[in-house]
Amino acid sequence: MVEDGRRVLSNLIHSQVELHKDFGGVVPELAARDHLERLPDLVDLALERAGLKPSDLNLVAVTRGPGLAGCLLVGVGVGEGLSTAWRRPIIGVNHLWGHIYAAMLARPDLEPPLLGLVVSGAHSDLVRMPEHGRFQVIGRTRDDAAGEAFDKAARMLGLGYPGGPALDRLARTGDARRQPLPKPSLPGLEYSFSGLKTALLYRLRDLGEAATAQDRADLAASFERSVVESLLEKLDLALEETPTAEVVVCGGVAANTLLRKRAAEVVGKRARLTMPPLDLCTDNAAMIAAAGYFSSPLAGEVEPAPIEVNPSLGWDS
Ligand code: KG4
Ligand code: ZN
Repeated sequence: MVEDGRRVLSNLIHSQVELHKDFGGVVPELAARDHLERLPDLVDLALERAGLKPSDLNLVAVTRGPGLAGCLLVGVGVGEGLSTAWRRPIIGVNHLWGHIYAAMLARPDLEPPLLGLVVSGAHSDLVRMPEHGRFQVIGRTRDDAAGEAFDKAARMLGLGYPGGPALDRLARTGDARRQPLPKPSLPGLEYSFSGLKTALLYRLRDLGEAATAQDRADLAASFERSVVESLLEKLDLALEETPTAEVVVCGGVAANTLLRKRAAEVVGKRARLTMPPLDLCTDNAAMIAAAGYFSSPLAGEVEPAPIEVNPSLGWDS
């Protein structure tokens, strides 16, 4: 529940970590079913926590993509049901826009134009946002996304699911200099993380049984450093090419400890950096509500229309 697109009144998460843990990753079918089972109670609780009744609401916002088809369909189905029952308009929201709008919740005075680095399980995108509702992609990954790379590296290092946060924790006890790994470097604003992943695989293979717990921590730190420095090298380049007063680094990977520290150093005094707090970096409902607010012509004036789910939606509306 979000007010005026800027203020979080309640933001609840039902974590599915326990559900997927034993499988080492998200099982789409289980995820979708669990969404269906949990969403109705979660919506009630969110209203209660915010002290609101359905009649207080102006707009229902729901993710229409990108994401897992089954989960998106459940979300849109529930959203359309609520919109009809509550007689409130509904708007379909781009998940990627949501990550950027999380920064507006963190800093209510933040306005475009801005330069964004969106790093999640499926995206490593550099975007320019000249105004509300307009995004231009200036850089992306050729292969794996940063979050995907962290998750795969975590698996190689024998860490459980979810991998990114586990690797972050392990890296804090390691020293990257003891196990140097290459920093990916492509021309322009493109990313690539698959070579780095292979480098880690070979290093682990070479160490074999002799790999100690400290080796693994050092490798986690080294892998993390390579990903983070690569992400920031291109952010730096984009900022040099077109100076911008506002920079946003967001998405699940923006919860990473080293990325948060280094982003502040790299951006320095050239721009104002906004990184949402951890609970607004990883997927959440408040960011979708905020994006919905700013995507609608005026809350209350949106026509209820069937929402088209698109699992591979890009940055266009
Ligand atoms: O945005 P998000 O919550 O979901 C997607 O839209 O994909 O991002 C999830 C990704 C996962 O790959 C997860 O491992 C990664 O963000 N992640 C992290 C950390 N917390 C979450 N990666 C590195 N360090 C973290 N602390
Ligand atoms: Zn996300």
